[in-house]
Amino acid sequence: MAERLSVSDLTVGYRRRLVIDRLSLPPIGGGEVTALIGPNGAGKSTLLRALAGLQPARGSVRLGGKELLGLAPERHAAHVSYMPQSVPARVALRVLEAVISSLMASPLPDLGRDSAAVRRRAMETLDRVGIGDLALEALDELSGGQRQLVSLAMSLARNPQVLLLDEPTSALDLHHQFRVMTLLSDLARERETVTVVVLHDLNLAAAHADRVMVLAGGRLAGHGTPLEALTADILSDVYRVRARIENSASGRPQIVVEGVTGVTAA
Ligand SMILES: Nc1ncnc2c1ncn2[C@@H]1O[C@H](COP(=O)(O)OP(=O)(O)OP(=O)(O)O)[C@@H](O)[C@H]1O
Ligand SMILES: [Mg+2]
Repeated sequence: MAERLSVSDLTVGYRRRLVIDRLSLPPIGGGEVTALIGPNGAGKSTLLRALAGLQPARGSVRLGGKELLGLAPERHAAHVSYMPQSVPARVALRVLEAVISSLMASPLPDLGRDSAAVRRRAMETLDRVGIGDLALEALDELSGGQRQLVSLAMSLARNPQVLLLDEPTSALDLHHQFRVMTLLSDLARERETVTVVVLHDLNLAAAHADRVMVLAGGRLAGHGTPLEALTADILSDVYRVRARIENSASGRPQIVVEGVTGVTAA
């Protein structure tokens, strides 16, 4: 049975600002893709970093029966992979080396430091992401979108129980957006991974996510299937837009933004 991630009473902030105050979420299921959406500054990245154990937080984050908050970084990294919103700094590594370094940074029980197995896993992951041909390219000579795909491969290679991806498609062209979202769904189903993906493209969320959580001002403003969560009322409240929701042939909603609210003409 797929494990679920349960978040309750989570409080996260920075030195001078409390961003998330006693947030509880509906259980996040393994084997499906959960899109985390919400406006700029809503706290999405802060939440993801807290779930990844990279931001001090109070409350509870349980995977199955196991409490993750407070685990030592190595033990945390054995369960959770996190892809940051910004792509890796310009480092002097080749693509394959970057993925290998992510596997070696905190070795996985099934691979350890067996260099042949690590290299094989890294190469398989690059192929699955569709960038096997870039394996020997220098990271700092890639395009922004290509670097984002490498960053994704670095997270996926670890084959985690919980995968947290912060805007993994923001630099990608249409082909790669579709391909990455399909890959995430396939991997979630194959490996029963808890997959949380921050997205600003609501139509991408609508087309690919199994569940949607809407975060606004550090609070949950809506959740459910794309049809349940992506309603004109919620989008108006949260994004201050006038949106028309259409039903596509696939049964998933399509969002057409017709204007913004609360802005008066000059
Ligand atoms: N390192 C930091 N120090 C202090 N405040 C921060 C820091 N990072 C984020 N914040 C604040 O926390 C709040 C939430 O930011 P966060 O990055 O989590 O938003 P977000 O939902 O990911 O937004 P975006 O869609 O723009 O990425 C914002 O008010 C931001 O100013
Ligand atoms: Mg963010």
